Amino acid sequence: MEELTEYILAGCGPEFGAVLLVSGGSEAMESCLKIALQFHSARGEMSRRRFISRQWSWHGNTLGVLALSGFAERRAPFEGALMSASLLSPVNAYRPPAGVSPDELARHCAHELEEEILRLGPDTVAAFVFEPVVGAADGVVPAPPGYAAMVREVCTRHGVLMIADEVMCGSGRCGTYRALMRDEVVPDIMSIAKGMSGGSFGTYLFPAFGSGQLHHRKLPPCRWWLYGATGR
Ligand SMILES: Cc1ncc(COP(=O)(O)O)c(C=O)c1O
Repeated sequence: MEELTEYILAGCGPEFGAVLLVSGGSEAMESCLKIALQFHSARGEMSRRRFISRQWSWHGNTLGVLALSGFAERRAPFEGALMSASLLSPVNAYRPPAGVSPDELARHCAHELEEEILRLGPDTVAAFVFEPVVGAADGVVPAPPGYAAMVREVCTRHGVLMIADEVMCGSGRCGTYRALMRDEVVPDIMSIAKGMSGGSFGTYLFPAFGSGQLHHRKLPPCRWWLYGATGR
């Protein structure tokens, strides 16, 4: 376990201070949400409870991350019971929103995120959750160059945490250990899973998440951080 943890931290880069091993991608993502909420709680910002994500995305089967997943067929049986969240336009240069050219897509979508944060009120937003390269919900769809950096700026400006779901695209699958390394962007919290297990079966994968900006911002004192299974 220690060796694996060191390997992951070395791969993710020096910005990441902690790695926690859980049972699969959904639990990793669920834990990312919970760390984000606890981060804001520990800073006394209890109003930051809302998550923003994107359509045509998949973050897992547990109720929290299912609510952030833009995957109609998988959500359908649970509609009405899912936490409310904001799902923005998908970022797909092959199918941009009407009237938006592929060249304008990155700026358009980063702007859409900022508009939604402002509409909701920045002090109500906990985090923006996205897949740097969309997997199960839309094929292999990378965002256009510049998108991740623009989103990073928007999140930082409004104190919103950036959560990168690299369950499908991370741990080396895009050529760098973290998919976002290509964009030179460090998320606040991230997950990895499938590339580590050598397959895409959802069982016994070892996801991890670390802290980028969280680390820089100094974690506030907290008696304990609750994530994953009881007892950890
Ligand atoms: C991007 C992404 N996040 C989370 C998950 C959930 O992972 P798991 O099926 O291991 O629970 C998946 C699964 O496909 C995924 O592609």
